[in-house]
Amino acid sequence: MVEALRWNEDSLILIDQRELPLVEKYFSVKTIQDCYDAIEKMVVRGAPLIGFTALWGMVLWAKDNPTGNFEQFLEQAEYLKQSRPTAVNLEFELNRSITKAEAFTQLHGNLVGFDSELERFAKSEMDQIYSDNLSMAKMALDDLDKIVNKPTYRLMTLCNTGMLACGPMGTALGVISYAFSKGRVEHVYASETRPYLQGARLTAFELQQQDIPFEISVEGACSYLMKQGLVDAIFVGADRIAANGDSANKIGTSTLAIVAKHYGIPFYVVAPTSSFDLNANSGDDIPIEMRSEDEILSFRNQRVAPLGARAINPSFDITEHMFIEGIICEKGIIKYPMSTNMVEKLKGSCYAK
Ligand code: MRU
Repeated sequence: MVEALRWNEDSLILIDQRELPLVEKYFSVKTIQDCYDAIEKMVVRGAPLIGFTALWGMVLWAKDNPTGNFEQFLEQAEYLKQSRPTAVNLEFELNRSITKAEAFTQLHGNLVGFDSELERFAKSEMDQIYSDNLSMAKMALDDLDKIVNKPTYRLMTLCNTGMLACGPMGTALGVISYAFSKGRVEHVYASETRPYLQGARLTAFELQQQDIPFEISVEGACSYLMKQGLVDAIFVGADRIAANGDSANKIGTSTLAIVAKHYGIPFYVVAPTSSFDLNANSGDDIPIEMRSEDEILSFRNQRVAPLGARAINPSFDITEHMFIEGIICEKGIIKYPMSTNMVEKLKGSCYAK
């Protein structure tokens, strides 16, 4: 099994997701600059893992700068926040490291020894992922059994939400793995995810490693597959969930959701609470990353569009809450009315507004 992220005491080792599945190559993060590059260039990707990578980046900085002060720490964290704009998990983990650094400085007058504290915190956060993902998966399968109730399911997903994106197990793909482990998955449609092919490269890789039966489909096939009655439910992840339930996820997600509603197929979002942004009232407040047009105009450095053609490359879109059957996080399932339900589920946690 490849490991998406490994802490090596003086560096962070990432599997280079740009090269998967054909080449297994590792990328070593030793500095804040390496960390920024790994996130921005998508060596590492997927909302939760982007957040954890940034957290480990701050641990590295604290280790390398034992006499650094809070203002310098803050400056580095703010810099890392710029590496990718949509996944709120990045901001979330960095804000938590900032809060800790501030409290440590207030108590000790400086950051001497803070590196060990932040390292312990990052490790404990990583230790928590598996149980959070497992509880989301169990809730998802229970809900599906209430709504669709079949012995086995044909499931569709988009992008990659497995261990490569989220740490052990995964979110939406974690639901699929868990359901498969219980003998409840008949087939999976993995949307290829144009233009970066996270579905065709990474989800297919993870499904294959677990022997889960699947086919890759182009996003344009989703309506056809749903109309043919081949899809019982759809599970996707999220990069940022607004207070009204609108959810940002990989470009093409909203198309799946709208078509699913048309055919009466339940569409679920599965994401940890670190993907919630209660400061965003709706999807309109969520920043959408625009990536380079080269990802569309060329494929593996081979030009495919005519010279002079331009392309537009929004990396995410917003699925409006009315198309979502439920948002599943480790604190429960959020259903209608989503805004009140969300406040209720997040009450008392550090995520509450
Ligand atoms: O551009 P990416 O590959 O980082 O986008 C990832 C996704 O959109 C995932 O579906 C999302 O982060 C949700 S959970 C991993």
